[in-house]
Amino acid sequence: MGLFTKDIKTMNDLFVHQLQDIYYAEQQLTKALPKMASKATDPQLKQGFLTHLEETRQHVARLEEVFKMHGVAAKAVDCPAIDGIIEEADETAGEVADKAVLDAALINAAQAAEHYEIVRYGSLIAWAKQLGRSDCAAVLAKTLEEEKATDKKLTTLAESKVNLRAAS
Ligand SMILES: [Fe+2]
Ligand SMILES: [Fe+2]
Repeated sequence: MGLFTKDIKTMNDLFVHQLQDIYYAEQQLTKALPKMASKATDPQLKQGFLTHLEETRQHVARLEEVFKMHGVAAKAVDCPAIDGIIEEADETAGEVADKAVLDAALINAAQAAEHYEIVRYGSLIAWAKQLGRSDCAAVLAKTLEEEKATDKKLTTLAESKVNLRAAS
């Protein structure tokens, strides 16, 4: 379902639709992260992906909690944006022969996913508050903090060593 189809009439419809979209995205990421961890060479990067995999499983559970709080069934709708990000990550990784350069590419791909999540959770939180669901907003905010922290860790890892190694 496209974002601006006629099925979405109200702010509440939009909120629920975007919950379904990010629910799908988080599920896809629980499948993509183990693959990224297995491709990563740097031990810290590998561990970082595995840590975020555990967090991502928690993100799926939190979304189920939010669906329940909001009184709608947990359902995922296809999210072509995250599919594209994951697909591109796979393709790029397949084309990079040098291990150190591959780590740099994996970080870049992971950050694309984090930024996508950050945008979506940011809006979901704002809309939840607008809809009088500060209870849902509070749960979503926990996830947003973890996405932001992961993004920061990836930047630090890239700037402190991975990019240097890739360029040498
Ligand atoms: Fe997430
Ligand atoms: Fe994430």
